[in-house]
Amino acid sequence: MIPIAVPNLAGNEARYLQECVDSNYVSSVGPFVDRFEEMVAAASGAPHAVATSSGTTGLHVALTALGVQRDDLVILPSLTFIASANAISQCGATPWLFDVSRDSWTLDPEAVAEALARQTVRRGRELVHKRTGRRVSALMPVHTLGTPAEMDALAGIAREYELPVVTDAAAALGARYRSRPVGSLGAELAVFSFNGNKTVTAGGGGAVVGQDEALCARVRHLSTTARAKAAYEHDMVGFNYRMTNLQAAVGCAQLERLEDLVEAKRRIARAYAEGLGDLPGIGVFPVPPWAESACWYSGVTLGRPTVSEAVSRLRDKEISSSPFWKPIHLQAPYADAPREDTQVTDEFWSKILVLPCSTQLDSRALALVIEALRDCVLSA
Ligand SMILES: Cc1ncc(COP(=O)(O)O)c(C=O)c1O
Repeated sequence: MIPIAVPNLAGNEARYLQECVDSNYVSSVGPFVDRFEEMVAAASGAPHAVATSSGTTGLHVALTALGVQRDDLVILPSLTFIASANAISQCGATPWLFDVSRDSWTLDPEAVAEALARQTVRRGRELVHKRTGRRVSALMPVHTLGTPAEMDALAGIAREYELPVVTDAAAALGARYRSRPVGSLGAELAVFSFNGNKTVTAGGGGAVVGQDEALCARVRHLSTTARAKAAYEHDMVGFNYRMTNLQAAVGCAQLERLEDLVEAKRRIARAYAEGLGDLPGIGVFPVPPWAESACWYSGVTLGRPTVSEAVSRLRDKEISSSPFWKPIHLQAPYADAPREDTQVTDEFWSKILVLPCSTQLDSRALALVIEALRDCVLSA
């Protein structure tokens, strides 16, 4: 089978892992963790980075550090991976779900501005959602598929309403927004994932980056069981959310090749757009004018056949493919979450077909996928 997205471990991964074993640094203290944080900070254009055990734990600790609390609402696009919503729930808060823009599949700033103007009221220092009486305490844009959200507009809205911003940048390391890297876009914190299906992996892991030293120190403190200076003394309810040296060793080796790996992803996205874009009813993933996407996943939108028919016909040809995220408002745990109109999300999500896009995919395999999908669409 040609897989969808598997790690590309052709660099220094094995050597660095051996160094961990030889030095006996396998846990959350070790030189690779420090080096990994420096590399993530540099790649994302942020001065501070804290390595975490996953993207989800990074999101949870970021929201906690910014003061998101029980019963709050956090603004979130419905078109995202469930981990974004779960991190909000893990704070005891609830996502307030919004649509994405048609031209980017990222959080629609106009919808957010309009809903905040109509549906919230300021009571003292708090912004309150009138219908539910809940405090709105943060805004979480998602860089869908590695494509940056419209951050200038969203950060402007956040400033107007005094809302902190945490960006779910899980798959966006290497992307640029109006020529700026994604760690420096007006959000208080941005969070990356280094899960196995990401362009650069640590075999699992995450990182929280930000501009503010004190805030990032708080993220570090909270994710290290809020350990105070003395042994076994803790000054807050913290988490055991740090990345291990083993994970960071793999992550460092991957980050050494970040540019090449992202370029491979972009080459694959271009090949699918060129090889499939002319087919009837086929759409390509949007790249808005402000974005140099990291092109995490590649694929198309389908008219006919349906995504499940295409997945099964491609499987017959030993090609893996899959549907994409089922929106949060259609997921059982979030059926009652407050939500705005989700017309664009509803129109697109079930038409998205994700195609093989491992960075080591060669031109022969790409041609096979393109030919197989052309057959499938033209005979539907
Ligand atoms: C948009 C988004 N948010 C959050 C996550 C969660 O990251 P992790 O799997 O590292 O917990 C992922 C990916 O897995 C993701 O794609």
